[in-house]
Amino acid sequence: MTAKPKIIVTRRLPAAVEQALTERFDVELSRRDDATTAEDLQRALAHADGVLPTVTDKFTAEVLAAYPLRTRIIANFGVGYDNIDVAAARAHDIVVTNTPDVLTDATADLAMTLILMTLRRAGEGERELRSGNWTGWRPTHMIGTHVAGRTLGLVGMGRIARAVARRAHQGFGMRVLCYDPAPPSPVELAAVGAEPRATLESLLAESDIVSLHCPSLPSTRGLMNASRLAQMKPGSFLINTARGDVVDDDAVIAALTAGHLAGAGLDVFRNEPNFDRRYLDFQNVVLLPHLGSATRETREAMGMRALENLAAFFDGRPVPDRVA
Ligand code: 8YV
Repeated sequence: MTAKPKIIVTRRLPAAVEQALTERFDVELSRRDDATTAEDLQRALAHADGVLPTVTDKFTAEVLAAYPLRTRIIANFGVGYDNIDVAAARAHDIVVTNTPDVLTDATADLAMTLILMTLRRAGEGERELRSGNWTGWRPTHMIGTHVAGRTLGLVGMGRIARAVARRAHQGFGMRVLCYDPAPPSPVELAAVGAEPRATLESLLAESDIVSLHCPSLPSTRGLMNASRLAQMKPGSFLINTARGDVVDDDAVIAALTAGHLAGAGLDVFRNEPNFDRRYLDFQNVVLLPHLGSATRETREAMGMRALENLAAFFDGRPVPDRVA
């Protein structure tokens, strides 16, 4: 009998996933559940046949230059894989996989949560009750922005954005526009009630709410900078469930300060768990701690999907979610 492949898992995973990994592999589970250091990751690359990391584990080109190198596959727990330098992984003959599909609904739900919370001032309202400052119902109290009939502009039109479009259009009566340099087919767009725009500029100019759904790439980092924010309508809202580095925080804070942005809903930040503390000064900003995929069902499904990628790789079968 050949030895089971050795897998190092960097964070605590749902119990059912840890159990399934333990049955299938010689697995080293995370007990500390801390964010890893570059040394931790290089140790994993030297000692494991496969690594199962998350967004908090940064496989930079320097980390991947580890020697000796035993790892042949990095099965990322997450659909985004900007935590891994895929070109460097490829150069070292390391396969990289992600976990698409299984987190689409949960993340789309969270984008809708942020849209609704931001437009209806839900964070502010909750803080009023918790601080004991609610003086009672009155017709002019904490008036928010009506959702139905607003125009929602989706930047990036992949699986999650299409799920947001369906919810916003069919569920909340919103008009939905989208911009993607590689847009889905007209049939797919019609199915979710979204109208394409040929340029980002036209989408920004027409939308009451702009929601970001593009990956973090060299071409999208800092995408929402001062000039793009200026192209948004005065009094519009910005929602980010994609990646923190897609927005320029200085520019967003300047647009909030000027009142050009009426509010923002942010689930992701550059350099998490750090975030720009200036956002705390704005009652009209809703801040969440990267909760996009955080449901029990989704986190289990993500883990099982990562496991399936590892299993396929070590069985010599086609790897379902290979990105490099
Ligand atoms: C995860 C995410 O929580 O999948 C992604 O890209 O941002 C989140 O769903 C995170 O990436 C886990 O590694």
